[in-house]
Amino acid sequence: MTAIKLRNVNKAFGTGLSRVTVLQDVSFSADLGELNLILGPSGSGKSTLLTIIGGLQTPDSGVVLIDGQDLAEQSPKQRDQLRLTTIGFVLQSYNLLPYLNVADQFKLVDRVKKRGNLTPAELSTLLKELGIDQLLDHYPGELSGGQNQRVALARALYANPQIVLADEPTAALDSERVKVVGRLLREMAATHNKAVIVVTHDLRLQEFADHTYQLLDGRLRAE
Ligand SMILES: Nc1ncnc2c1ncn2[C@@H]1O[C@H](COP(=O)(O)OP(=O)(O)OP(=O)(O)O)[C@@H](O)[C@H]1O
Ligand SMILES: [Mg+2]
Repeated sequence: MTAIKLRNVNKAFGTGLSRVTVLQDVSFSADLGELNLILGPSGSGKSTLLTIIGGLQTPDSGVVLIDGQDLAEQSPKQRDQLRLTTIGFVLQSYNLLPYLNVADQFKLVDRVKKRGNLTPAELSTLLKELGIDQLLDHYPGELSGGQNQRVALARALYANPQIVLADEPTAALDSERVKVVGRLLREMAATHNKAVIVVTHDLRLQEFADHTYQLLDGRLRAE
């Protein structure tokens, strides 16, 4: 089943001479059960594309359908609701709250989204798998980049979203941890029937992907 569909999406920033076209007629679809990898160099528009897919930015033209619903036809409130219930974001900047320890980062999700999150046992398994189960009483400022990255990933998966959007989820990880995260994301897609989209320049993730795309000069091409 198609979870995400983009049709002829265009996005540019700036005006006049400083105008930069970032996405040009990008069409793309992602099915439940599959891990899609979008590769591209720095500045190629990966984060822009991912935030448009997740409804955090709007395209200049084109259509974005999430679960068959046109984002442009929804009110901001409906879009917020869809993001909360359907989409898990792992942002490039981790987006953890500095004044909450790791355990409380998950409790915060419980306060915002009251239903359908992982059980304590499932969360515990996830944290062990990612090697961050000993860090529950630590604050983000006390963790390494790679540890923060894995906490951010766990937090996104904790809400058990149907769609997982991850921006450079492995940039700060060594090769062994990349394999752990790659396998986990693939398992999320295959076993838990999620649509997973990862944007990255990390070629080490390629072996875990069902589909790989290249984003270059504003255009998206299937490999
Ligand atoms: N809000 C904005 N205003 C103006 N320009 C922007 C804005 N957001 C992105 N850009 C420009 O759009 C282009 C693509 O940016 P984007 O962050 O999507 O790239 P990226 O592929 O994610 O890069 P990286 O790998 O470094 O994270 C860049 O040239 C960037 O400067
Ligand atoms: Mg980026």
